[in-house]
Amino acid sequence: MVSWVQTLLFMSALFPVLVECKIRHYNFTVVLKNTTRLCATKPIVTVNGQFPGPTLYAREGDNVLARVTNHVQHNVTIHWHGVRQLRTGWSDGPAYITQCPIQPGQNFLYNFTVTGQRGTLLWHAHISWLRSTMHGAIVILPKKGVPYPFPKPYKEKVIILGEWWKADTEAVVNQAMQTGLAPNVSDAHTINGHAGPLANCSSEGAYTLHVETGKTYLLRVVNAAVNEELFFKIAGHNLTVVEVDAVYTKPYKTDTLFLGPGQTTTSLLTADQGIGKYLIAVSPFMDTIVAVDNLTAVGFLRYNHTLAFTPTTLTSIPPVNATSVTEVFSKSLRSLNSKEYPANVPLTIDHSLFFTIGIGINPCATCVNGSRAVAAINNVTFDMPTTALLQAHYYGISGVFTDDFPAKPLIPFNYTGTPPSSLQTMNGTRVYRLAYNSTVQLIIQGNSIIAPESHPTHLHGFNFFAVGRGVGNFDPEKDPLKFNLVDPVERNTISVPTAGWTAIRFRADNPGVWFFHCHLEVHTTWGLKMAFLVENGKGPNESLIPPPSDLPQC
Ligand code: C2O
Repeated sequence: MVSWVQTLLFMSALFPVLVECKIRHYNFTVVLKNTTRLCATKPIVTVNGQFPGPTLYAREGDNVLARVTNHVQHNVTIHWHGVRQLRTGWSDGPAYITQCPIQPGQNFLYNFTVTGQRGTLLWHAHISWLRSTMHGAIVILPKKGVPYPFPKPYKEKVIILGEWWKADTEAVVNQAMQTGLAPNVSDAHTINGHAGPLANCSSEGAYTLHVETGKTYLLRVVNAAVNEELFFKIAGHNLTVVEVDAVYTKPYKTDTLFLGPGQTTTSLLTADQGIGKYLIAVSPFMDTIVAVDNLTAVGFLRYNHTLAFTPTTLTSIPPVNATSVTEVFSKSLRSLNSKEYPANVPLTIDHSLFFTIGIGINPCATCVNGSRAVAAINNVTFDMPTTALLQAHYYGISGVFTDDFPAKPLIPFNYTGTPPSSLQTMNGTRVYRLAYNSTVQLIIQGNSIIAPESHPTHLHGFNFFAVGRGVGNFDPEKDPLKFNLVDPVERNTISVPTAGWTAIRFRADNPGVWFFHCHLEVHTTWGLKMAFLVENGKGPNESLIPPPSDLPQC
């Protein structure tokens, strides 16, 4: 008989990567930090005093142990956006969905393993609007000895896009909730924490990307903005997208990246232009009547040996309402779908869901206009519970949620046409229940109530395949014939076009309670959110693990 030691030795000779998975320890200490931007100083809530926060590095297969210690007077949680959290929903992070918040003076150990993912993601606070200043990149390297499916870059750079408010963002959201009106837009966009020279403040810094002629760089671009979808452009240079949301793509060459908040795009940049300085521009996208922060953040790409006072090569930014640029970008992304990295698109569907998403107006006696702006999915505005849904599910606590989230609108209407006469929504803490391993097709239909708007929509706990998108109302007869079931892009956040729809498919192979929401924080705040409850399977590794003993109490 072969002993298990021999088996292990034999296995490790065959698959050296199997035994090299490491434990990665991180300490995330949440502290206030006085920070100066746009010529004004305010205390902001940070991780380890940094803005943006530290980059979390791991290799595929690693176990991450991140201790979050709260030294501020706000409740906090951290979400590892896009990390699948297979069976470890306790470490996912959305407040009152998978955990109660970490209270002032308390700490919690997030414990998860990175499985089957490689590329760039982000982490961010997942409570109120604290993610405006509490965010950073996650870089998942391939297993040791496994190459990238593209030429090895000379260097890798993390570029985090954000938004800056001169006011305290907790005050901004609190005021909006009290008045019932839309919150103020930000005062500037930032590139790795800096707004650059257009910000009307001479001491404002600018991000500079230093490059050497002839070398190729891997740019890991993260949109950590709160409420805005962004364009990213470098004068005189093309970018070749090779991965989005930690899934490899077919190489796609473009001069403009488009990212919704929560999305990440990794691309190759070759420094193949003349020595000099080139503009990096980050500008917003908004193709409807909603207010937007229209200030372009500026940084520089600078070749080594560029002489001082060299003029900068400029670039034009896409018009703020450049819908066609966003559509070309979205439609050009394809899964790599190679032998090593197949696209396992579900081909049979157990649950066919249709969610219409948008804004509504509910009565509010204390609000400025006697009404408040709300947002909803299938006309249900999600009420945040005071007990975390995952705990309620695991311990069978009744009265926290109901599992009757509607699979389709209860009252159909012409979603992208004239809105219904009543703009009022229902309130509820409803989830949609899925059996383990069942397959889901979800049509997310944007509606034109108040204002049609592009919604970057995020699903926790899964990647999904974006099999189709279009403008107007989804046609259940004709549109499915055009679905891409071969190499659709696989991601965790997808834009639903203004007055249009997006079709996604996923397999419910991760037991737990998984948040689904618009990643424009203003819409999440207003209630554009719900959760999927995925039951345990019957097999040995198909159940949610028991909760950690230090899980915070509400
Ligand atoms: Cu990046 Cu639920 O969020």
